[in-house]
Amino acid sequence: MATKNQTLGEFIIENQSSFKYTSGELSRLINSIRLAAKVVNHEVNKAGLVDIIGAAGDTNIQGEDQQKLDIYANEKFIQTLTNRNIVCGIASEEEDDFITINSQDENHQNKYIVLIDPLDGSSNIDVNVSVGTIFSIYRRVTPVGTPVQLKDFLQKGNQQVAAGYIVYGTSTMLVYTTGDGVNGFTLNPAIGSYYLSHPDIKFPKNGTIYSVNEGNYIHFPQGIKNYIKYCQEEKEEDNRPYTSRYIGSLVSDFHRNMIKGGIYMYPKSSKNSNGKLRLLYECNPMAFLAEQANGRASDGFSRIMDIEPSELHQRVPFICGSKNMVIKVEEFMKTAK
Ligand code: AHG
Ligand code: MN
Ligand code: MN
Repeated sequence: MATKNQTLGEFIIENQSSFKYTSGELSRLINSIRLAAKVVNHEVNKAGLVDIIGAAGDTNIQGEDQQKLDIYANEKFIQTLTNRNIVCGIASEEEDDFITINSQDENHQNKYIVLIDPLDGSSNIDVNVSVGTIFSIYRRVTPVGTPVQLKDFLQKGNQQVAAGYIVYGTSTMLVYTTGDGVNGFTLNPAIGSYYLSHPDIKFPKNGTIYSVNEGNYIHFPQGIKNYIKYCQEEKEEDNRPYTSRYIGSLVSDFHRNMIKGGIYMYPKSSKNSNGKLRLLYECNPMAFLAEQANGRASDGFSRIMDIEPSELHQRVPFICGSKNMVIKVEEFMKTAK
């Protein structure tokens, strides 16, 4: 039973037996993500200071190039997951190809693979707006004892064993699921511990917020255009017109919509035939969280987590949020001329 104000560490220990795999490895994996998130959080929080304390030039005191935060976050997550010797492979939005962990796991005994968007919403870093990290965890499908292969990463979203995100917002939160609901933990920066602040989060079935980059309206499919007009129509009995909110960081837009009730859309357009968001690093983990929180995630026609991936960096249209709102979009897509 989740108890409010429990630390994340206590929660993991207490719930370990309810994890589908009880060897403790998944708990250790979540623990290592918690650690990397703290390190990245520290760096994100002082991002605005870079011009002040980093004014000496492009290199830091060790002579290393000062890195953009998304590269920094990428390195920290990969380093932590590798050092702790828990995973056999990692794929990241920031890497061209997947990484086989040879150094620590030389006999390829580890079972888990991680896919990660180390810094989501990176266009918001420079302007002090919330960003995030998204992760997705699978069991490998190729035999233990052999190096990981591409097919270990190209699994359908419905095979995920855990997924979550960190939102570096007004406070920093880690929100994740292991297939048994969604729980949110808030970091107390003074102590460095995460506390269970949002147990068993659920999307309201109906919402009144829609999040979409409306600047692309002209390029959207007719079904999406019709839905946006529907959101803007006056209809008091179902609280329309809805409110428009778009941060431009999927993690933050999703987080707000999950708590308040709303829908996020990154549809295909006449410019991008598959939309923008990546199936493996962004859409599948968010879809898993959404479904675990009574929400829904679709490409406008079918379930995100049933899509058969064909490549690592594949993009898909993404419609995600309160169940009845997503169903409504699907109706508009089906009937649009
Ligand atoms: P990333 O920073 O990982 O590349 O992801 C940015 C994504 C997503 O977080 C956000 O909702 C969307 O791109 C914003 O795109 P537009 O600027 O095209 O609206
Ligand atoms: Mn992203
Ligand atoms: Mn990113």
